[in-house]
Amino acid sequence: MLIILSLALYTIMQMIMEIPLELMLTISKRLPWMFFPDVVPLGHPIFDIINSTNSQIDWDLRLACLLLLAFDQEGNFWQLYGDFLPSADECTSLLLASEHSAAPLKVKRLARDPERFMWAVSIAQTRSINLQIRVGSLVQDANMFVPYADMLNHSFQPNCFYHWRFKDRMLEVMINPGKRIKRGEEMTVNYMSGQQNNMLMQRYGFSSAVNPWDAISFSGDSKIHLDTFLSVFNITGLREEYYHNIQSEKEDDFVDGAVIAAARTLPTWSDEDVPIIPSLERKAAKELQGRCQKILSEYPTTSEQDQQILDATLDARRTLEAAIKYRLHRKLFLGKVIDALEIYQDKILF
Ligand SMILES: *[C@@H]1O[C@H](CO)[C@@H](O)[C@H](O)[C@H]1NC(C)=O
Ligand SMILES: *[C@@H]1O[C@H](CO)[C@@H](O)[C@H](O)[C@H]1NC(C)=O
Ligand SMILES: *[C@@H]1O[C@H](CO)[C@@H](O)[C@H](O)[C@H]1NC(C)=O
Repeated sequence: MLIILSLALYTIMQMIMEIPLELMLTISKRLPWMFFPDVVPLGHPIFDIINSTNSQIDWDLRLACLLLLAFDQEGNFWQLYGDFLPSADECTSLLLASEHSAAPLKVKRLARDPERFMWAVSIAQTRSINLQIRVGSLVQDANMFVPYADMLNHSFQPNCFYHWRFKDRMLEVMINPGKRIKRGEEMTVNYMSGQQNNMLMQRYGFSSAVNPWDAISFSGDSKIHLDTFLSVFNITGLREEYYHNIQSEKEDDFVDGAVIAAARTLPTWSDEDVPIIPSLERKAAKELQGRCQKILSEYPTTSEQDQQILDATLDARRTLEAAIKYRLHRKLFLGKVIDALEIYQDKILF
């Protein structure tokens, strides 16, 4: 048993990057405020500002304060690392921020230069990592800026994950079990699981056409047979963790995150004892297709037109690009669900 365990650890735990705590900017997620490294000098006015934030929600505001403070300090590592951070025009995460979100309202109170503060908030939103860390005997939930690790892009099938190594006070980037990273291949982590595109957009400023967690709200009574749909597309697992049960290298493999999302979001019925009646099932699938078509038709543009806008405006502002992609991704998702229902109708043979 011991041998198996250590072999498993040996093959699983491949570390590819380690970043020491000293290079990060961290603040405890809850009171009392603990900083590491201790960049906030005793009695510095920024402490009062941080202390006046809402401890339950204002994580990004506190990190933004910390980042700007680090920039102001002579010789601070973040002055150099700042060169790698995206500029204000590249920050798209606040595109969907509603008037009610805390940041814009608090800016006046928190920042001498509101624009620069909003930039820092956006950096905090998109690049912070939340982890439980242990420093000495203290265990705390921390919001942290971790240089280099914050460059990893998102994937729903990431090849890496973060791990806090307590003994050396380091964040490690580890390779996910069962994954290999070839030379030149991008390293990715999963930023957020179980969230629709609007949440990804709000938090990180991007969306995905293959988000396995996107959803469509259907009205009406049409339902398709869940087990049959799943078996047609070889989807297995429980509703909360569906996955495509084929290790396929083919690029034209139809089942991607959008089809998994379809399985999750389509109105379904399930009863192993009652055989499905193909004609009724086809009718239901057609009706659901019709509803997707209707949602699609309500957009002012088609997917092709969105793509044309993206292609035509080469120097588009990043915010415009992100906004159009967000709309496009929604439509691609709906299109994929329509196609999946088409394939489904073809494959109900019995
Ligand atoms: C921080 O704010 C809390 C109230 O929110 C207050 O009780 C505490 O004394 C403040 N701490 C410092 C050091 O100012
Ligand atoms: C993340 O994605 C962006 C945009 O596609 C790309 O420019 C960048 O190189 C990627 N970062 C890494 C670390 O691969
Ligand atoms: C479903 O996946 C399993 C496991 O990869 C495979 O053996 C099987 O042939 C697949 N079924 C279909 C219908 O593709």
